[in-house]
Amino acid sequence: MSIPVGSKAEGGQFHGRQRELSDLWDLFESNNVLLSGPRRLGKSSILQRLADDAPSHGWHAVLIDLQGHGTAEEMLAEIDRALPEPAIKRWLETARKGAGRAADRLRKLELRLPGGLGGSIDLQAPPAAAWAPQAQRIQSRLAPQPVLILFDEFSVFLEKLISHDRAVAELLVGWLRTWRLASQVQCRFVFSGSVGLNTLLTRHHLITCFNDCYDFRLQAFSRREAIAMLEAELRGEGWPHAPDVPGHICDRVGWLSPFYVNLLLVEALRAARDRQAEAGVSGTPLTTNDVDDGYERLLAVRSRFVHWSQRLERDLAKDALTVALRVLAAVAARTDGLTRRQLVARLATVEPDPDARARRFDEVLWHLEEDGYLTTEADRVSFPSFLLRDYWQRNHGR
Ligand SMILES: Nc1ncnc2c1ncn2[C@@H]1O[C@H](COP(=O)(O)OP(=O)(O)OP(=O)(O)O)[C@@H](O)[C@H]1O
Ligand SMILES: [Mg+2]
Repeated sequence: MSIPVGSKAEGGQFHGRQRELSDLWDLFESNNVLLSGPRRLGKSSILQRLADDAPSHGWHAVLIDLQGHGTAEEMLAEIDRALPEPAIKRWLETARKGAGRAADRLRKLELRLPGGLGGSIDLQAPPAAAWAPQAQRIQSRLAPQPVLILFDEFSVFLEKLISHDRAVAELLVGWLRTWRLASQVQCRFVFSGSVGLNTLLTRHHLITCFNDCYDFRLQAFSRREAIAMLEAELRGEGWPHAPDVPGHICDRVGWLSPFYVNLLLVEALRAARDRQAEAGVSGTPLTTNDVDDGYERLLAVRSRFVHWSQRLERDLAKDALTVALRVLAAVAARTDGLTRRQLVARLATVEPDPDARARRFDEVLWHLEEDGYLTTEADRVSFPSFLLRDYWQRNHGR
C-alpha cells in the first residue's frame, strides 16, 4: 500500500494544497514565512513539495530538518552543508539559459539588483558571538541569491536552544531578523514548527523577532480536497468502492486533517480485506460498513493515540495539566462540545477564585488549541478530530 500514514507525503502521494502552495509562492516574492499548524497536518509534506517545485518557480530550495540540533553552530553548519556554492552556481547557470517562468523571474531579478544575482549587498555584521564569523560568511554568500531555506521542526530546535542558553537564542533569532530585513536580500526563509511555535515564541518573548514574517497557519483539507484525495488513493490501490464511501470517511473523521483521513482509509481497507478473506471472496467494493469497522479498530489500539496524553504530561506544569485533563474529559463527553462559560464553571473545585479560574482556563485552552487538541467555533469548544475525541472519552473520560 502506498498511502502514507505518518511520514511526509511525497511525489504521487501528495494531494490537494494547491491554494496554499500558490499563496506561498506569491508570498516568497517579498516575504519570509512562519508556517505553523497542529501536529500531523502536513507541514513537512508541504515543505517537501515546495522544495521539489522550487526550480520551476525560479528558486533553489533546500529542506533542512532541525530536529536533532540545538545550537547556533549546528544550525549554521546545516545551512552551509545544504547550500554548497558550486551547486547554487550550477543551478543558476542552467536556470538562466532556460525559458518560461523560472528564467523570466531570474532575468527580472538580475535587472533589479545593482550587482546582479550573487553580487554583494550591504549587511549588518552578526552580533558578537563565537559563531559570528561562520554566520557572516553564510549570510554574505546567500543573501544575494534566490535560495529558499525551508526549516522543518524549527520549534523543536528553538526550544532546545532556549533551554540551553536563552541569551544565545535571542542573539540568533535577532541576527536572522536583521539579515531578512536588509535591503536587496534575495534569499527567503520558512520557519516551520510542529509544536505550538507561536506559543513558544510568545512564552519566551521572542515573537517580536519574527514580526516581519508572514504568519501562515495551515488549515485542514476542504471536504472537496479530501474526497478528491480519497478517490485518487482508492484508484491507485485498485479498490472499487461504494459511491458514498469517501463522503462517509469525511463524516467520521470530522476535522479533515489528511493524516486522519488516510489513517481511516487504510484501516477501512484492512477491515474490508479481512471481511473478504472470511467470506472467501475477492474484488467486492469497499463499503461504509468497512469504514465503521476501521474506525472501531483504530480506537481499539491504545498505543495509536497514547502520545497525545503523554505530550501533555511532558509539556504542561502540574497545575495546568490538572486543568487540561478536566477540560478535555468534559469536552470529550459531548459530541457538540461545551461553551467557555460551561467549562470554566466545571473548574470550580480546582480553582475557587473566579478570576484566577478564568485565567488558568484561558492559558490552558490556548495551549490545547495551538497543539490541535481543541478548537473554538461560535463560542463552542470541541475536539476537531472525532477520532481523538472518541479515544479520549473511552480512555480518559470520567
Ligand atoms: N498533501 C498531502 N497529501 C496526502 N497526505 C498528506 C498530505 N499532507 C499530509 N498528509 C498525511 O498526513 C501525514 C503527516 O504529514 P506530515 O508529516 O507532512 O505532517 P506534519 O505536519 O509535518 O507532522 P508533524 O507535526 O508530526 O511533523 C502523512 O503521512 C499523510 O498521511
Ligand atoms: Mg513534520
